[in-house]
Amino acid sequence: MIKLPKKTVVNSSHGKLILVGEHSVVYGKPAIALPFPLVKVKANVELINDTIIIKSRYYVGPLNKIPEKMEGIAVCIKETLKRLEKPVTGLLINLESTIPLGRGLGSSAAVAIAVVRSLFAYFDRELSKEELMELAHLAETYAHGNPSGIDTAAASNDGPIWFQKDNQIESLQIGASFNLIVADTGRIGNTHAAVASIKDKFKSDSKATQQLINQLGEVSEQTREALSNGSVKSLGKLLNSAHDQLTKLGVSDDGLNKLVRTARNAGALGAKLTGGGRGGCIIALVRNLEEAQSVADALINDGARKTWYFTLE
Ligand code: MEV
Repeated sequence: MIKLPKKTVVNSSHGKLILVGEHSVVYGKPAIALPFPLVKVKANVELINDTIIIKSRYYVGPLNKIPEKMEGIAVCIKETLKRLEKPVTGLLINLESTIPLGRGLGSSAAVAIAVVRSLFAYFDRELSKEELMELAHLAETYAHGNPSGIDTAAASNDGPIWFQKDNQIESLQIGASFNLIVADTGRIGNTHAAVASIKDKFKSDSKATQQLINQLGEVSEQTREALSNGSVKSLGKLLNSAHDQLTKLGVSDDGLNKLVRTARNAGALGAKLTGGGRGGCIIALVRNLEEAQSVADALINDGARKTWYFTLE
């Protein structure tokens, strides 16, 4: 038996939340995303005397037998090793994640970011932000079809960002504390299908679809102002308005609408779906953490699988 030197490298990334601008961001409008560090993914890279083995909640086995739904991450690993000029062999990549899959919380982007960071660290190579985004984007392209890049940008940034395709990512200033709740419907959304359905809507009714996309873009502009002025009430109204427009675009569903209603009835100042929609999560704005607890209780009573709350400062 060959004895290998022991070397293990761990790196991580966090989930993301889209505050406003999902879907319209695909059409060049600005969006605002937040880091969601309450859910995380850790990628551990270890030397082994074998091929590349992936260990995760959903799959344990060789890289070349990875299931279709994880194909994006396989592409990302191979491209990263190619960039590092290393052979695709001899590594155990262990993924530990608390980010629920397909709930609009940026699981695939966070896994890709953690893996790219770990592989670069494992081979003692510097990783620029541009290179990280570029390699992680490959996994996203597989997961989403035509991603705007917002998930990768949010999962690799530690503060709120202003994101617009082909523009520099901007860090956002927040003028007051905002208390937010995230609630999971427990159902996996399909971002790929939701993005495709809007593309189809453009074909069948381009004028109305463009109008909704424009309105979502305006909501993002106003949300930026509300965040910077610390205007909690305005932010609540803007979240509600974004949810209406996303519903008209056809990417909400009964389960999401129900949780949005529950949050509002329990006292939230505003609530909307977050991410691709058609399953996944909602986000709601409340006045303080006591109210967060009571709104979270109401959401669980009404069928939410899980809730999280935190203060954005
Ligand atoms: C998914 O988190 C956000 C979408 O706008 C798709 C994208 O921007 O790639 C729905």
